[in-house]
Amino acid sequence: MEVTNVCEYEELAKKKLPKMVYDYYSAGAEDQWTLKENREAFSRILFRPRVLVDVTKIDMTTTVLGFKISIPIMIAPSAMQKMAHPDGELATARAAASAGTIMTLSSLATCSVEEVNATGPGIRFFQLYVYKDRNIVRQLVRRAEKAGYKAIALTVDTPRLGRREVDIKNKFTLPPNLTLKNFENLDLGKMDKANDSGLAAYAASQVDQSLSWKDVKWLQTITSLPILCKGIMTAEDTRMAIEYGAAGIIVSNHGARQLDYTPATITCLEEVVKEANGRVPVFLDGGVRRGTDVFKAIALGASGIFIGRPVLYGLAVDGEAGIKNVLKMLRNELEMTMALSGCTSLEDITRDRVLTESDKIR
Ligand code: FNR
Repeated sequence: MEVTNVCEYEELAKKKLPKMVYDYYSAGAEDQWTLKENREAFSRILFRPRVLVDVTKIDMTTTVLGFKISIPIMIAPSAMQKMAHPDGELATARAAASAGTIMTLSSLATCSVEEVNATGPGIRFFQLYVYKDRNIVRQLVRRAEKAGYKAIALTVDTPRLGRREVDIKNKFTLPPNLTLKNFENLDLGKMDKANDSGLAAYAASQVDQSLSWKDVKWLQTITSLPILCKGIMTAEDTRMAIEYGAAGIIVSNHGARQLDYTPATITCLEEVVKEANGRVPVFLDGGVRRGTDVFKAIALGASGIFIGRPVLYGLAVDGEAGIKNVLKMLRNELEMTMALSGCTSLEDITRDRVLTESDKIR
């Protein structure tokens, strides 16, 4: 049966993947209220379509940090993709490149920065967790630079790993045939399997809980790559990020895997966009599953969005072809949404094209 939308891949992936892996990919933190809300908040935003516009030609191209991409839909970093499919992050890199968009590689990938780079040309960002041992951070950043990555996405919402209760119940660990490839030569590649949840133990022991704004400045002393702060949800932190030299902001609640009962990212987007006031681009991830969601995020001021789980589910079901299909479906849906609401370029997707709960009924 033909897959006709992105959400169907989740059902198919659930059937195909071992329970421990599906649970790890799909889970949110604690009550998973934010997980549901990331989706539901999109459904409360409605359109104000314009008609009788010539939409024979629709341009979805845009520029991110100076790099031209074919669609405003990029790939968020997600850990351990080889659990989904033997090709893992290599398939993701190939699918992103063939769709003409950006892939972000996780620090916790099961393929190294160099292996991903060796898949061929493509625009790639490297996601960074900051570890207590700053030499590790220096090495990771240097390797990413050398391998041609174009930006660092610094994850700022994970001083500790959120509590995902299914992972605790499943005693989640990375399967023994896989390693965290970026750490292979750093003697950190194996997680402590004796503990409750191997990943939690690993992350808890290595991630630097003291990470603070001054480290954003420090990072700029060890790299010339632009730094995106990933995981900002408020105007206050937007101000700080810009003050401390961030080149862009990703509004994210980590796919609802960190602090439960944060609002949906789409609910926080406008606050951040207003504060940024055009000084740096603002991106969003969390719950984007439809072209209409992409349109709504752009109307509320995002310069582009990232998708997380849909990539993992597409990869699990059909490898590189599955991810390509996810990107294609979202692309087609965005194009259709633009056509049916009278927009021929992303610049046409202005604030007055949507109606949010905070708008008065006109
Ligand atoms: C993530 N995410 C994530 N973020 C990050 O900065 N580093 C990482 O290693 C990971 N790993 C990871 C694993 C899995 C299984 C998931 C689902 C997510 C968060 C990710 O980058 C992104 O913020 C969310 O996934 C976006 O939400 P959606 O699209 O999954 O709803």
